[in-house]
Amino acid sequence: MTRDEARAMDAVDPLRGVRDRFTLPEGVIYLDGNSLGALPTATPARVAQTVEREWGEGLIRSWNDAGWIDAPARVAAGIAPLIGARADEVVVADSTSINLYKLLMAALAARPGRHVILTEPGNFPTDLYMAQGIAAGADVDVRAVPRDRIIEAIDDSVAVVMLTHVHYRTAEMFDMATVTAAAHRAGALMLWDLSHSAGAVPVDLDGAGADLAVGCGYKYLNGGPGAPAFLYVAERHRALLTSPLTGWMGHVAPFTFGDDYAPCATMRRWLCGTPPILGLAALEAGIATFDGVDRAALFAKGQALADLFVAEVEARCPSLTLASPRDAARRGSHISFAHDDAFPVMAALIDRGVIGDFRAPDLLRFGFTPLYTSFDDVWRAADILADVLDSGAWNDPRYRARGAVT
Ligand SMILES: Cc1ncc(COP(=O)(O)O)c(C=O)c1O
Repeated sequence: MTRDEARAMDAVDPLRGVRDRFTLPEGVIYLDGNSLGALPTATPARVAQTVEREWGEGLIRSWNDAGWIDAPARVAAGIAPLIGARADEVVVADSTSINLYKLLMAALAARPGRHVILTEPGNFPTDLYMAQGIAAGADVDVRAVPRDRIIEAIDDSVAVVMLTHVHYRTAEMFDMATVTAAAHRAGALMLWDLSHSAGAVPVDLDGAGADLAVGCGYKYLNGGPGAPAFLYVAERHRALLTSPLTGWMGHVAPFTFGDDYAPCATMRRWLCGTPPILGLAALEAGIATFDGVDRAALFAKGQALADLFVAEVEARCPSLTLASPRDAARRGSHISFAHDDAFPVMAALIDRGVIGDFRAPDLLRFGFTPLYTSFDDVWRAADILADVLDSGAWNDPRYRARGAVT
């Protein structure tokens, strides 16, 4: 494809105007929104309002007057349609790691007599580490089975199957409905990590019959660094599952200050401590970037951007090997290519304004966020990548120093 042809695709892109909802630095092609979403243009004013007006002037009154107390549920209601959930099945709280802990513990408690958390090797580290931490202190085993053998490995010892829907390295995507149905056939609960899915690919938790899910707020949801995470519990489980972190904000009546814990009937039971209001304000502004955006067009554009990148890179960079599924229907919205010297190649690329990331030991990873990535961005990124490789620019010793790229 020529650059003019890529630009012609932008000219007919129904989402081209949505890029204006973001503030992107000049001279940068940002292909890392799968790790940290770009800054929404509305966020600085929204955060300033929360700080200056709601906190500065409203002071403690803002818990009620500015709706702070309802923020975990209100912000969750904006996430729910992106993950195929009802508003009353989602809450925003804590980090993804903490939410994994809460839901794994609740799932184990709900399946007495079963002691296995089933997952795959190479799942995102925090998912594995949280499960391992639980196993270290209890009669629980973490069983990690390669993804093509997961379904046959779900037996009556498995309490919960914990998988990341879109793999953080390869972008390979599980068939949510099929794996969930297999877990249920064996009597296990299904917990999905949607960190690389929410806002990037169609997700239908309710339609798939999923039980539990978690996900990050700072990736495709554009909530900013360290944004609070979300947590989903299917409505049919709400009254049955409780958080092991029985903090006062999950209490049925926190402001009666009673001595004994009793869980709230709603998703608020999954809160632990006081909600992070500044982070919630930024996340709310991040989720608002999806307002009025046609979901089908959004996800189709994500696939088209990634398809274009694969085609251009494969045509021009023979030293790279595709490490993501070629079939767009089987992957999320990022693409990885393998190269023995991926680290210095990515460092050289970032130096030229194309920001992707490196995943050890050998992956160049590029995220395509259809809200703000253009076809021209993709074409130019492939062009600059080809130049970095052809010129040997990446061989410069300064690109080999670790720590230059996160
Ligand atoms: C699949 C997945 N789960 C969890 C996390 C991070 O969890 P936390 O926000 O608790 O650091 C990431 C971060 O990249 C991730 O990719």
